[in-house]
Amino acid sequence: MSDAPAIIEVRNLRKWYPVRKGFFASVLGLGETRHVKAVDDVSFSVRPGEVLGLAGESGCGKSTTGMTVLKLHVPSAGAILFDGVDLASIRSRARLKHFRRAAQIVFQNPYESLNPRFTVFQSVLEPIRIQRPDERARHDAMVRLALERAGLIPVESFLHRYPHEMSGGQLQRVAIARAIAVEPRFLVADEPVSMLDVSVRAGILNLFRKFAAELDMGILYISHDLSTMRHICSRIAIMYLGRIVEIGPAAQILGDPRHPYAQALIAAAPVMRRGARQRIHLEGAVPNPIDIPAGCRFNPRCGKVMAECRTVEPVLRPAMGERQAACHLVG
Ligand SMILES: Nc1ncnc2c1ncn2[C@@H]1O[C@H](COP(=O)(O)OP(=O)(O)O)[C@@H](O)[C@H]1O
Ligand SMILES: [Mg+2]
Repeated sequence: MSDAPAIIEVRNLRKWYPVRKGFFASVLGLGETRHVKAVDDVSFSVRPGEVLGLAGESGCGKSTTGMTVLKLHVPSAGAILFDGVDLASIRSRARLKHFRRAAQIVFQNPYESLNPRFTVFQSVLEPIRIQRPDERARHDAMVRLALERAGLIPVESFLHRYPHEMSGGQLQRVAIARAIAVEPRFLVADEPVSMLDVSVRAGILNLFRKFAAELDMGILYISHDLSTMRHICSRIAIMYLGRIVEIGPAAQILGDPRHPYAQALIAAAPVMRRGARQRIHLEGAVPNPIDIPAGCRFNPRCGKVMAECRTVEPVLRPAMGERQAACHLVG
């Protein structure tokens, strides 16, 4: 598994949103265009059979990363390689279509992602009909298999239900069935359990682990909640203000984070706190991604800040074990 070539490789990805200037400034051509630097030079790869966790406080750019990797947003810079081929270099519509089918997403809110007028069968059939039109004879079986894999068993009892007849957890399983029905090889799961009742979360998260292990899918699991990552992620990336500050094997990141931000975030996660680890407080608020601090972007909140941190931006470098961290104190 871990030696397989990456399904998705992201290199120096950037997604900047231009900020609208005031009316007079834009008419008079005054001032420079400013940007929300939602994703600012992010690199990572996901291999088949692997769940990569992407964690960080709300607003740090996780969803923008997930959407941009899937080309649901146009990247401002950087490259996305699918099976080693740069998506920007693909001119053939058929190959782009192949990517659209092979890379799917599960969103946070199942109430919004399903059509209330569709039965479960119709909802799951829709992407199959659009993306696998030439396999009509298999459509019925594909719907059933997807529902079974998503844990909606017995399948018969769910096929003809409407969204209002199901719980949030069941709806999210339908949304998951929709995403996997076309047999993708890469899946982005963006906070897939954060709107659900705590009691159903583990069951749904286990599905993603199973898809990676049994179907060899590569999964990018996005969450602000690190305590959900321990059991399902092989590796974890910690994101802060649009950039990955630490990335490596899940056990190393959760057990012994090196970057001061990763340390604070992990110390604050409820399940992680059980040990003797000292609680590190995060001072201040997340800065605005329009005005990113000079030097290390975490420096205004860092308890270990040094003079260098205010002027030189640290890059990801090999740290202890197999991880990388972007901090002047590490490496
Ligand atoms: N369409 C957009 N236009 C302008 N800014 C945006 C847009 N989408 C997201 N942002 C901003 O980009 C930053 C990252 O957002 P997001 O990726 O949703 O973070 P997360 O998923 O980690 O909570 C936030 O500051 C957010 O306000
Ligand atoms: Mg988000």
